[in-house]
Amino acid sequence: MTTPPHTRPGSKRPSQVQTRRLTLRDGRVVDVRLLERGDREGLAAAIRRLSDQTRYLRFASAKPRLTKRELDFLVDVDHHHHEAIVAVDPTTGRGVGAARYIQLPGEPGMAEIAATVTDDWQGHGLGTALLAQLAGRARDEGYSAFRASVLASNQRSIAMLLAAGFAPLPSGGTLREYELTLAQPPAAGRVRPAPP
Ligand SMILES: CC(C)(COP(=O)(O)OP(=O)(O)OC[C@H]1O[C@@H](n2cnc3c(N)ncnc32)[C@H](O)[C@@H]1OP(=O)(O)O)[C@@H](O)C(=O)NCCC(=O)NCCS
Repeated sequence: MTTPPHTRPGSKRPSQVQTRRLTLRDGRVVDVRLLERGDREGLAAAIRRLSDQTRYLRFASAKPRLTKRELDFLVDVDHHHHEAIVAVDPTTGRGVGAARYIQLPGEPGMAEIAATVTDDWQGHGLGTALLAQLAGRARDEGYSAFRASVLASNQRSIAMLLAAGFAPLPSGGTLREYELTLAQPPAAGRVRPAPP
């Protein structure tokens, strides 16, 4: 997992501008693609629009703005050690969700994931769809497993992880940990490709 991202043999990284249109379970249509550096302002705006609750569940803080350094980190993806997939509402052009993985140091083949869906899009299957897309990218980059660490009170996130095939690790306190083996595609949820 230490090979530079753009030279790794066998990497199937799609073009960064390639967009896939998905239809969620209730018929909502969303465009998903890899995060680009040009998404910085859109990402910052989407984070500002999150409710305090969603921001807290994702960033363990309800502060409305991330620091420049935090934002730099979120957009500084190299598409191998750190990958992110964004979802855009085609009717508004606004970002409505993102999922990312980051390679865990010292654990070959293992990446930690995080996901956020804007409040108005939560509970429609978008998080599940982003997770499935992210798993495909990670598999293409040679990863074998995902780990997720969420607040024990984050019922929706835990339900999404379990539905996608994640298994709980022994954990206590306020955080719960889950792992998914990437050998097989995760449950596709209730998402199907949009008709052409
Ligand atoms: C957690 C989060 C990313 C999930 O995204 P989402 O789009 O809301 O989730 P989904 O709709 O795909 O899946 C979750 C829901 O669908 C259900 N679900 C998902 N796949 C399913 C399946 N195959 N079969 C049945 N139910 C399923 C889950 O049980 C859950 O049910 P609910 O909506 O009734 O609570 C989103 O809610 C969010 O951004 N939350 C705040 C930030 C956060 O907690 N991030 C995670 C920690 S990093």
